[in-house]
Amino acid sequence: MAAHIIDGKKISSEIKDELKEKVRILKEEKGIEVTLAVILVGEDPASQVYVRNKKRACEYIGIRSLSYELPETTTEEELLKLIDELNNRKDVDGILVQMPVPDHIDDKKVIDAISPLKDVDGFHPMSVGALCIGERGFVSCTPAGVIQLLKRSNIEISGKECVIVGRSNIVGKPMSLLMLRENATVTVTHSRTKDLQAVCKRADIVIAAIGKPKMITADYVKEGAVVIDVGINRDAETGKLCGDADYDGLIDIVSAITPVPGGVGPMTIAMLMNNCYEAALMHNDL
Ligand code: GUN
Repeated sequence: MAAHIIDGKKISSEIKDELKEKVRILKEEKGIEVTLAVILVGEDPASQVYVRNKKRACEYIGIRSLSYELPETTTEEELLKLIDELNNRKDVDGILVQMPVPDHIDDKKVIDAISPLKDVDGFHPMSVGALCIGERGFVSCTPAGVIQLLKRSNIEISGKECVIVGRSNIVGKPMSLLMLRENATVTVTHSRTKDLQAVCKRADIVIAAIGKPKMITADYVKEGAVVIDVGINRDAETGKLCGDADYDGLIDIVSAITPVPGGVGPMTIAMLMNNCYEAALMHNDL
């Protein structure tokens, strides 16, 4: 049977359109304007693109965005002071500091400074801890997007063997907790895992988040498995974007797969927008 190609662009558009309607209702019926503060320090071109896309998504949905584009020379103290001000502003629901910050600023201090009540990236240790013990809190956007892709594609998670390749703080680790919350049997693998191919071959669902172009080939995947590709890499030969999974080599084996681009990528911003909406509900006791 032909593999189902999971259309992240379409699913993310659906989520954004649902949010647009919910944000409109919140404004019309309760007079609440959902607000996200976006902070960018320095002029990293990739970060500038990400920030622009986040602000565009806000505009589309009807979320107010406050933009703080600070010079590279901004001190840690100045940045922490701004975060503190935004933490205390009643009209700000979410705070996002685009990573990476310049080397002279300690990113851990920045993450810790954002109030867990406004931590729409889900990076604060309190947010991660809440996810770990199943309490309410913000979930890191990319892993939350993967769950939505699976659910909205009617792919069963409960009871399934899920192997996650990669253990980063923003994808692999929270992904494992979310899949566990959905009652999957979860294995987290990494660079020291012995016989990675055999471990991945057991999986009903493989989630690749390693950052190595096309590493997950047909040798790693059993027939009928689902492959979710979180990687965004440049193919050294063609210069085109490619994932961590070898899409062309897998398409005839898998039951479903996400393409790169157009799979997991578009979901991250959609889930960020969802976190902003949830933050506004929480701040207004709704
Ligand atoms: N840099 C790369 N990804 C992210 C993200 O999800 N959030 C923030 N704030 N910075 C990033």
